[in-house]
Amino acid sequence: MLRTIADRKKATPAQIALAWLLAQKPWIVPIPGAKKLERLEENIGGAAIELTSDDLREIESVASSITVQGARDPERLQRMTGLEPEREDSRMLLKDKIAIVTGGGVGIGKAIALRYAKEGAHIVVAEINEVTGQQTAKEVSAHDRHGLFVKTDMSSLSHIDAMVEKAVEAFGRIDILMNNAGVNKQLNFFEVTERDWDWIHSINAKGLFFCMQAVAREMAKNNYGKIINLASIGGKGFRGTSNIAYAGSKGAVIAMTRIAASQLAPHNINVNAICPGATRSEMYDTIIRQIVDRDKITEAEAIARIDVSIPLRRSNTGDDIANIAAFLASEESRNITGQSLNVDGGLMWD
Ligand SMILES: NC(=O)c1ccc[n+]([C@@H]2O[C@H](COP(=O)([O-])OP(=O)(O)OC[C@H]3O[C@@H](n4cnc5c(N)ncnc54)[C@H](O)[C@@H]3O)[C@@H](O)[C@H]2O)c1
Repeated sequence: MLRTIADRKKATPAQIALAWLLAQKPWIVPIPGAKKLERLEENIGGAAIELTSDDLREIESVASSITVQGARDPERLQRMTGLEPEREDSRMLLKDKIAIVTGGGVGIGKAIALRYAKEGAHIVVAEINEVTGQQTAKEVSAHDRHGLFVKTDMSSLSHIDAMVEKAVEAFGRIDILMNNAGVNKQLNFFEVTERDWDWIHSINAKGLFFCMQAVAREMAKNNYGKIINLASIGGKGFRGTSNIAYAGSKGAVIAMTRIAASQLAPHNINVNAICPGATRSEMYDTIIRQIVDRDKITEAEAIARIDVSIPLRRSNTGDDIANIAAFLASEESRNITGQSLNVDGGLMWD
């Protein structure tokens, strides 16, 4: 069709195409990629061609049936330009959702907070560490989302209530709670003290429950919510777990996830848990250092000892957990509730 018009106008098809582009938006100057001088001259000639309204209608009737490649082929675009293509709004899993991420300053929580922001959510970073919490909130803003840091000690009920209040004050509602904050330390059976027990359980189990309770009260008002609890395969009795008190606290998380899922289902609130195996993070690094000190081996040996025990031979990265956390926070998992899903390279089957 371009050739027919080109013959009529004594021009080339490329010139007709450029003349048509100019006729669409004359204030946009197309820059044709031409490596040869004669091609460039030919293209420039396109600006001198006048298309009648009949010509334009003829071209448009064919152009409207053409499928545009490029933007619809983001992987190809990335290969060609090296740039990560912007996600189209319609492809964002969590567009305009309001999410609280506890312990979002570093490690798994930070990876999840940034992934949620990339998926379109605004993030409340509920974190005890002011420096890292502020930093994550700042990085959320780089995704053009609101990042609000609220200093929160998850072992304190008054902190949790104040944090939830601030979140609602700032955003009007809460759609997603990512109950991630947790603590641990490498201790064998006989080393665990009452102090260790209370410290671990006050954050991993008690804080997690009261945060679910405070947030679910808000979610119930809107008859909508997604709660995701960070448990561990330790909570399912994984033999290689670092600490029996920690495993007990994560077992409590798995049990509470099921009970909360059934009691909150009438409010259209899904509650699920993620059970990571070994995951590279600050916590992982601390455990590695403790194994190094205890067993007098090198850091590389301690890491290899863990990796060799994993069927897929690799520990998780924060992104491995963020992927499933995004799925569980989205509508793609709308009929999944009460589940505790392992991400562990094949260490545990249930
Ligand atoms: N890393 C692993 O191998 C692994 C494995 C299984 C489960 N998990 C669980 O995943 C979650 C995240 O672990 P991680 O490896 O990223 O840990 P991490 O130690 O790297 O990060 C934990 C974050 O929680 C914050 N935090 C600690 N105490 C807090 C408190 N009282 N109030 C608020 N925030 C507090 C810390 O400041 C930090 O930002 C935890 O619940 C952990 O038990 C981790």
